[in-house]
Amino acid sequence: MSLVEEPVSAARDADGLPASLEQLALSAVRAAALAAYKHAGSGDGKAADGAATEAMRAILGEAHGLGRVIIGEGEKDNAPMLFNGEELGDGDGPRFDIAVDPVECTDLCANGLPGSLTTIAFAGEGCLWSPGPGLYQDKLVVGRAASDAIDLRESSEWNVERVAKALGKPVDEMRVLLLDKPRHVELAKRLRAMGVTVIMPSAGDVAGAMFALLPGTGVDMLLGVGGTPEGIMAACAVKVLGGGMQTRLAPQRDDEREAIIAAGISLDEILGVDDLIRGPAIFAACGITGGTMLGAPRRMAPGWISTQSLIISPGSYRRIVESTPAPDLNPAGG
Ligand code: FBP
Repeated sequence: MSLVEEPVSAARDADGLPASLEQLALSAVRAAALAAYKHAGSGDGKAADGAATEAMRAILGEAHGLGRVIIGEGEKDNAPMLFNGEELGDGDGPRFDIAVDPVECTDLCANGLPGSLTTIAFAGEGCLWSPGPGLYQDKLVVGRAASDAIDLRESSEWNVERVAKALGKPVDEMRVLLLDKPRHVELAKRLRAMGVTVIMPSAGDVAGAMFALLPGTGVDMLLGVGGTPEGIMAACAVKVLGGGMQTRLAPQRDDEREAIIAAGISLDEILGVDDLIRGPAIFAACGITGGTMLGAPRRMAPGWISTQSLIISPGSYRRIVESTPAPDLNPAGG
């Protein structure tokens, strides 16, 4: 699996977000990745999360505009976080919604293993759906060619067959990514019985969604249950690039289920990408520990460091390698 470099054509939204927000998203993920990288391999995921969160908060706090955090990762793992409802920026200029996970795949970062990223997404004010106290959701993501083929009301088998047909390939050539979790053991068995290749990383369904969304990565679909912040951020990328995505809340504990019901949020409703993201959006990520999606920060010369980021915004997606002075960088690994 790797990301292809060619730009994917995507409709440029006439009401798109200001270009300044694209640079802001890139600056935020890059600062967070450099901060977290100092803790990569340290065994201390909370320290990585805390450093990345503070770096993002500083960048977003200086922004021209006013961003409001609609969904921040951290609650489910009791990690340092940008709080839901937190407002950042100088208060003038564009108003926008934020979905954020300063360290996606914290354990991989703590253990110095490939796959951890910093991630953020912006949408117009009032455009991001909030899951309230919902921490987990069932997700189905495909690229543009199969965007009309999916229906989460139907079985996974039905969806795999429909997507295979839309992609013009036999079912036994399908490649589906699921997180390697006990909750997915049965589903993996059923898919393998169909001849499907099942790819099961221990963590990282934002990257999984990107692989399913983008052509040429060797992943045709993302299926299974993962976090809601990760789902909303991925939905921003899907929205921009015109892929297919459907979700349904999937609480993993009784207290989560009860809180969702108490908040008056439906457990049965299936939300498509236009329900999750009701306007223009931007998605950005930066690699912390490297991997097939984005490389880790690398020393280029004494006091210089390069990072790899991904930006998906109306018009195209780009992978950006940027080198800057970073005299105080003292990573635990690499
Ligand atoms: P973290 O940032 O919490 O480490 O997320 C990693 C991740 O694998 C996500 O990609 C995924 O959405 C979520 O965890 C699934 O949660 P859980 O590991 O609790 O099943």
